[in-house]
Amino acid sequence: LHPFVIAPSILSANFASLGQEVDHILAAGADWVHFDVMDNHYVPNLTIGPMVCRALRDHGVTAPIDVHLMVKPVDAMIAAFIEAGATSITFHPEASEHIDRSLQMIRDGGCQAGLVFNPATPLQLMEHVMDKMDMVLLMSVNPGFGGQKFIPHTLKKIEQARAMIDASGHALRLEVDGGIGLGNIAQVAAAGADSFVAGSAIFGAAQASDPHRYDSIIAAL
Ligand code: DX5
Ligand code: ZN
Repeated sequence: LHPFVIAPSILSANFASLGQEVDHILAAGADWVHFDVMDNHYVPNLTIGPMVCRALRDHGVTAPIDVHLMVKPVDAMIAAFIEAGATSITFHPEASEHIDRSLQMIRDGGCQAGLVFNPATPLQLMEHVMDKMDMVLLMSVNPGFGGQKFIPHTLKKIEQARAMIDASGHALRLEVDGGIGLGNIAQVAAAGADSFVAGSAIFGAAQASDPHRYDSIIAAL
């Protein structure tokens, strides 16, 4: 496993120039593109879908696209994002009627699969399907919006997830999402995370006119 992954959430990018925004974060050293899909049903916000993922691939993006589905139901969107060029697809277990089947669909489509846990969702939901997962995504805010404050009690949960992963013998990535920035990323890593989503901390950081505006923040993270 690659030791640490930085995955900027394009939810906080300028959507009017998304291709360039993604080029900039990748040139600045980002590892993955975190792609937040919201449906105004599972979460109270509406964002982007498979057409935009396909457009980034057609634009020439070859980096991993890490699709975080905040939609209910999930299976139709899993199929669409496999077609659209996703690298990994994660979904919230509460949003699927058949968690095992949805995970299997993702793997059958050649993508990496994972479950996402809201701050109050018990990790035990993954107990019987860890062999079908490549990653765990832990929310450190309630999903739906960028720019929220990191919820401190989720640090304990990161430790719990790390312990479950280590005990399972499966090499799952442990990604954390929400409110991460320079002020807390070291703590999140110390709790056991190896992959870090950051939206507002990266895209909120600098002047739109500067082509190197993301270099220092991504290097610092
Ligand atoms: C929240 C999304 C996050 C969000 C992170 O529902 O899943 O990926 O964009 O943004 P920040 O880093 O600003 O909390
Ligand atoms: Zn996300």
